Amino acid sequence: VEARGIEGVGAGALGQTASRVWVEVYLRPLAWRCLRYREAKAGLLQSPRELSPKWLYDERGSRLFEEITRQPEYYPTRREREILSARAGDVARLTRARWLVELGSGASKKTRLLLDALRDEGTLEGFTPFDVSEEMLRGSSKRLAWDYPSLQVHGVVGDFEQHLSVLPRHGRRLLALLGGTLGNFKPGERARFLGAIRASMGPEDFFLLGSDLLKETSTLEAAYNDAAGVTAAFNLNVLEVLNRELGAGFVPSQFQHVARFDAEHGWIEMLLRAKRAQRVRISSLQASVSFAEGETLRTEVSTKFDRDALTRELTQAGFARLADWTDDRGDFWLTLWSTGRATD
Ligand SMILES: C[S@@+](CC[C@H](N)C(=O)[O-])C[C@H]1O[C@@H](n2cnc3c(N)ncnc32)[C@H](O)[C@@H]1O
Repeated sequence: VEARGIEGVGAGALGQTASRVWVEVYLRPLAWRCLRYREAKAGLLQSPRELSPKWLYDERGSRLFEEITRQPEYYPTRREREILSARAGDVARLTRARWLVELGSGASKKTRLLLDALRDEGTLEGFTPFDVSEEMLRGSSKRLAWDYPSLQVHGVVGDFEQHLSVLPRHGRRLLALLGGTLGNFKPGERARFLGAIRASMGPEDFFLLGSDLLKETSTLEAAYNDAAGVTAAFNLNVLEVLNRELGAGFVPSQFQHVARFDAEHGWIEMLLRAKRAQRVRISSLQASVSFAEGETLRTEVSTKFDRDALTRELTQAGFARLADWTDDRGDFWLTLWSTGRATD
């Protein structure tokens, strides 16, 4: 692990924040590249073609995702913020957590509602943003340390699948997984991920989960096909990442963004569809991939949940539900879970 402070916070008034901000980077470049090669090779050469959603979140992708959350069609962020605005105080009272850990933290914007509530409750000492996107994490860590003068910020750059066990333990923690991120896992992966989160928790820790719920197809599909084309740009950016990291020869204008609801699986799938037949060389995999006209590469699924089914999944993973809240329209669901173990 590479552990280092935040550059650029050592001088002037910002100097006071430097000792409170720390970022550990667990994605060692060589091992990370090998893992990405293996994943890409398996995903691009299989049929149907598919990549893990983490390819979407390079620096530009993370910025584009932030822009998506501001689009009028993208309701999940607004609905989740509505619930958190009304209920963060309840979460703080129920958990009295000393440390907030945010899994897949992104820009950590809604997180401020939780930080404010825990600070008002008088228990908050620190915050750990955890994300695969280092640039985004460094930026948000700096801003939070600046805006919360007594907060310790201990960021971790890592991968959900490998690094949950290294998350810092600083007393009673609240682990938060917001933004519907759980929906990006398919059922088997989701069960493993929930099991790993549960295994990483101590008896006094809590888990706060924000999940998008099933609703009319038109609302769901509109959210992933915004009129401004930001989701399309976010999706197509994957090809730029493949070109840069794998020496691939994708021409983004030769692909079209598609997002559609798959009722059988209950998820939105985001695809890149080849506009015409083409062969793409991928130098570092020493392979070429042929796409027939209309053939797709799946870049993400975003599962929309049924409350009872999701409750069963969490119960099976060993969680016990303490509280749950929805927004006024019943679009999004925030749930608070304990480990179900006695705390004394
Ligand atoms: C749907 S976004 C949610 C962002 C933010 N929590 C929100 O609510 O707006 C998913 C986040 O998870 C991160 N992420 C995706 N795959 C990851 C992985 N394998 N390990 C760690 N973080 C990951 C992305 O970088 C991104 O910030």
